Amino acid sequence: MKNFISVKDVHDIEALIAQGLEYKKDPRKDESLGRNKRIGLMFFNPSMRTRLSTQLAAKNLGMDPIVLNAGSEGWTLEFTDGAIMNGTTVEHIKDAAPILGAYFDILCVRTFPKLQSQAEDESDHVIQSFIKYAKIPIVSLESATRHPLQSLADLITMTETFREKRKPKVVLTWAPHIKPIPHCVANSFTEWTQAWNQADFVVTAPKGYELSTQFTTGVQFSTDQAAALEGADYVYVKNWSSVHEYGKILGDHSDWMLTEKHLRHAPNAKVMHCLPLRRNVELSDEILDGPRSLLTQMAMNRVWSAQSVLSEILKGL
Ligand code: CP
Repeated sequence: MKNFISVKDVHDIEALIAQGLEYKKDPRKDESLGRNKRIGLMFFNPSMRTRLSTQLAAKNLGMDPIVLNAGSEGWTLEFTDGAIMNGTTVEHIKDAAPILGAYFDILCVRTFPKLQSQAEDESDHVIQSFIKYAKIPIVSLESATRHPLQSLADLITMTETFREKRKPKVVLTWAPHIKPIPHCVANSFTEWTQAWNQADFVVTAPKGYELSTQFTTGVQFSTDQAAALEGADYVYVKNWSSVHEYGKILGDHSDWMLTEKHLRHAPNAKVMHCLPLRRNVELSDEILDGPRSLLTQMAMNRVWSAQSVLSEILKGL
């Protein structure tokens, strides 16, 4: 594996999941794989789980990670080719990225979309610029369009918890939020679940919240949340802003917040959310504090997801 930006970078999803579960059993089994390899983690946006789990994963593989809070402590970078830099940007990515490429063997980057222009966000220009100019393997810690380490952890979580000899029914349900939220987790979960091909998958959201077609080709979509939830084995709860009215919130849909009542026809459903979340806006206390919640397990599986990916990249260095 050269870069890890989307599921398209993965040759064998099942093998990546299985390797993650092996690391869960024996975290230090490949502790010499990353010896003398340097890994940098650049955060243009906040993080708790991604920041800590990726460092834990790197340490398990014998690496010594270095974190730069680029959004708050780094120079403001310019990404536009030919820019006359007489404004707020201080350093061009063409100048900064090759230096990071020389400092590190692997560079991990977190950057969020601005939610102002769909075309700009979908170009994923920040992460693509690092790939172009750093010339070392780049790992997405969440980009403008996707959150692949989260999605791999989600598949690891479903793999280790589903015991039936059939495909699980997996529902991605839109949840309310008080502010416009990126589409990355929903896009990525959709893309990975489709590529995995081990689940009966449906996305449900209010009209106007359909995801971008580049992620939903062949995916069942319903605006009837109750029908979609019926018989679900996994319910992935996530807010995202509108794609059609890009980056906007379309009215009040507070009744979409998942409660036990919503799951009355899904007695075995386990509930997933990537965190962070706003209690009693996105998800109810009764679910979060009850036996359906997989949230802590999912966050723990972020370590094994990152370790499995870093391991594949290290093997190719
Ligand atoms: N789920 C997730 O990416 O969490 P953080 O934003 O805290 O890293």
